[in-house]
Parts: sequence; C-alpha cells; structure tokens
Amino acid sequence: MYDKIRYMESTIISPSILSADFSDLKQEIASVKKAGAKWLHIDVMDGHFVPNITIGVPVVKSLRAVTDLTLDIHLMIEHPEKYIEPFAAAGADILTFHYEACEDSAKVKEVISKIKSFGIKAGLSIKPKTKPEEIYEYLPLIDLVLVMTVEPGFGGQEFMHECAMKIPKIKEHCPDNVIIQVDGGINNITSKICKSLGATSLVAGSYIYKSNDYKKAIQNLL
Ligand code: DX5
Ligand code: ZN
Repeated sequence: MYDKIRYMESTIISPSILSADFSDLKQEIASVKKAGAKWLHIDVMDGHFVPNITIGVPVVKSLRAVTDLTLDIHLMIEHPEKYIEPFAAAGADILTFHYEACEDSAKVKEVISKIKSFGIKAGLSIKPKTKPEEIYEYLPLIDLVLVMTVEPGFGGQEFMHECAMKIPKIKEHCPDNVIIQVDGGINNITSKICKSLGATSLVAGSYIYKSNDYKKAIQNLL
C-alpha cells in the first residue's frame, strides 16, 4: 500500500489526530478516510523530549485494529530505540524519530536500522533550529525526512517560513524515493509554499480537524 502511494505523483496528506476529538477517535479516523486521506499522523510525545504527553503504544494498537490507513507515527520522545519494537508490534507502518533525540551519529544509524529490521519505513525528523546539513549523511538510509515548521509539542501553532527554506536543500541531497514531509502550521496557503519548495507529504492537524468539511480541507492541501 505504502509503495503504491509513494509512486503516485500527488502529495501525501497525513491528517494529525492530535487535533481530533479524542473521545471519538474511531469515528474521527473513519471520517478522514472517507474524506480521502490514505495516511494518519500520530504524534507520540513523552513529556521529556517535548513538554506535552499524548499517545502511546496501546492507543496505536487499538487504532490499528480499526483502520487500514497507513499509520505514520511521529515519535517526539527521548530514547527512541527503546520503543521501536513495541510500536512495530502495535502496527506502525512508518516510524519517524528525532535527530535531536540521539546523542551521536552511531545512535541515529542504530535507530534507523532497528526500525528497518521490523520491515517498516524509517523517518528522521529535525526541529526548527537544526540545520539541514546535519542530516545529509542519513538521507540515503531513510524512507522519509520530516521537516518541522513549528517547535514540536503542540498543534495549532504558526508556520515558521524560515524552516520551510530547508526543504530545497534537503531535496538536493535526497534520493528521489525519499518522502519529504512537512509538519506544523500547514493550511491552504502554507501547503502551496511547501509543495513548491519540494515537499511530497504534508501533515495537517488543526487545518483538517478544526474545519467543518474534512474533504474540502484535504482537497485544499492537494
Ligand atoms: C506538533 C505535531 C504536529 C501537530 C501539527 O508537534 O508534530 O503533527 O499535530 O498540528 P497543526 O497542523 O495544527 O500545526
Ligand atoms: Zn507530528
């Protein structure tokens, strides 16, 4: 399913359930699927790497049981290596971890290999203050690179234009099959900026889930 989507020309929209109604997640997921989404972005926060605490392994497992959408999991956690196996067992399709959560290059490579060892796709994310040059060496090893355009931790923040300027630099150093994803402050205007700079996947939380027409919101991002 994932590869079929990857080779399509259009942008991959990944609705972030962080802005969904948590008391009714099953319905909220069915609604974005009906609205055309193929991926679902799940923000995992540990209260250490970022100040917020959100979703963990049991919730991912429960969601896997009720949806066939590609589960695109964004790990905003310390010690990502400890949680690869549980999230893989819970049904993750893509596991994206943070470069800043790793103390050195060996750790980054170890986490990438560990994710791949479970037969799932590996993503690497950078926070707003991290320079794109710092991750060039890992681009041939991963399936997805996630450029944060807000400080990770909360939905509904304003898009940081200067972060989007990292996209062309990353694209220049990226194998063609690596998905370039952007997360934070994505709406009908910032989506166009990111796509024109080379993004191939857009995460959107509040723009989709706070709208009253999910289908129209997703279409506005394509
Ligand atoms: C922020 C998360 C995002 C968040 C985006 O740390 O990684 O995925 O849900 O929310 P919006 O689209 O509202 O900026
Ligand atoms: Zn995210």
